[in-house]
Amino acid sequence: MEKKVYTKPTINKIEFAMASKYGSPLRTQKVRRDIDGIDVHELTEKFGSPLFVFSESKIEELYTKLYTAFNSRYKDVTFGWSYKTNYLNGICKVFHKLGSIAEVVSEFEYQKARALGIEGKDIIFNGPYKPYNDLKLAVKEGAKIHIDNFFELNDLEKIADELNQTINVAIRVNMDTGIYPQWSRFGFNYESGEAYDAIKRIYETGKMNLVGLHTHIGTFMLDANAYRLATTKLMMLKEIAEKEFNAEIEYIDLGGGFASKSHLKGIYQSPEVVVPTAEDYAEAITNAIYEHNKSKRLPKLYLETGRALIDEAGFLLTSVVGYKRFPDGKKGYILDAGVNLLYTSTWYNFNVELDKRYEGENEPSVLNGPLCMNIDVIEENIMLPPLDRGSLLTLSPVGAYNYTQSMQFIRYKPAVVLITKNGEAKLIKEIDDLATINYKEVE
Ligand SMILES: Cc1ncc(COP(=O)(O)O)c(C=O)c1O
Repeated sequence: MEKKVYTKPTINKIEFAMASKYGSPLRTQKVRRDIDGIDVHELTEKFGSPLFVFSESKIEELYTKLYTAFNSRYKDVTFGWSYKTNYLNGICKVFHKLGSIAEVVSEFEYQKARALGIEGKDIIFNGPYKPYNDLKLAVKEGAKIHIDNFFELNDLEKIADELNQTINVAIRVNMDTGIYPQWSRFGFNYESGEAYDAIKRIYETGKMNLVGLHTHIGTFMLDANAYRLATTKLMMLKEIAEKEFNAEIEYIDLGGGFASKSHLKGIYQSPEVVVPTAEDYAEAITNAIYEHNKSKRLPKLYLETGRALIDEAGFLLTSVVGYKRFPDGKKGYILDAGVNLLYTSTWYNFNVELDKRYEGENEPSVLNGPLCMNIDVIEENIMLPPLDRGSLLTLSPVGAYNYTQSMQFIRYKPAVVLITKNGEAKLIKEIDDLATINYKEVE
């Protein structure tokens, strides 16, 4: 049989043009030797590879920047940390220390917030399914209940009877903000009049007071103007509720959705160009409140920003465990981290940084994970110099959603480290072991 010889592929013109915009594609290398001053090898030697690493300083920088953008324009603003974005206790504590209350979407997130010492009144309870007993407990504890649907409204009427109290509630509202596909799954629709009907129902039964209006228009929103429209619609609803039903709306909540500096696949320009600034978002929302406020008092403003406050503060260290040459000539690296840990790799191209400069020309490469699954691909086409077994890569930004959505599948979940503001690498989650995998099995 004739022996097939694989030749090194040449990169095509488009790849060349794209890569050469930032320097020679054959030589460019992004190198990162440390995170917040701690050597990446020192981190994996101590805590294992792969390893999630979070920077407290970066979280604080992102928080301060966004908070200042809002607070300098609008005094009464509070952030609610979106637990699902990253609910590791060590991370939630950082946000609570910075002044965030909690925003939760399930019973266990609610319990987590309570266990961290957050009082019910400082918990925003969102989400399309709130089990009855958990909803009742949240009502008893004075949480901010954001009603998603008419079934939940029914439950709350029953709870009001059972507890013999009038319940303060907010409703979730979905709407057209010019962003498609529209997120219409959550809450009551604005344009169809459903949101109005929900308010009417609240006041017909007299078992609840409407004190807040909430919307979450989507995630990774690249158009700040959508928030201007969303705020305008909430303010109009506020006016109606106050005029027609004598409601006293204490707050409006614009949810989350501000984009982080991730590189969305299919978008050629860099995040620095396409992602609105903190000021853009703040200007859009606060101007619309001032413009449309018809009451004596301005409403309190809540935001439930997730990804924009943590994505860039999170890194994943992953080691090359082997490589092979694929039939199309590309170099295929096997990493010890894959889609099990990087759920967001479907949508984003990560920054890939090397632990040192490598000799040799870059060549088209593929980054595969360690799973026995064909879809376990982190990067399908990336120019890399010849790496060795043991080369350590830093992938970023990965701070939002990746840890909470990571799968317990085939491999143990890795440890998580927080680099504190005083430069200490603090273990906030241990690496899983067989006991974690078998936990709660009864055979
Ligand atoms: C109700 C609610 N609030 C806040 C967030 C956080 O969104 P983001 O991470 O896009 O800021 C989400 C996420 O989808 C959400 O569903």
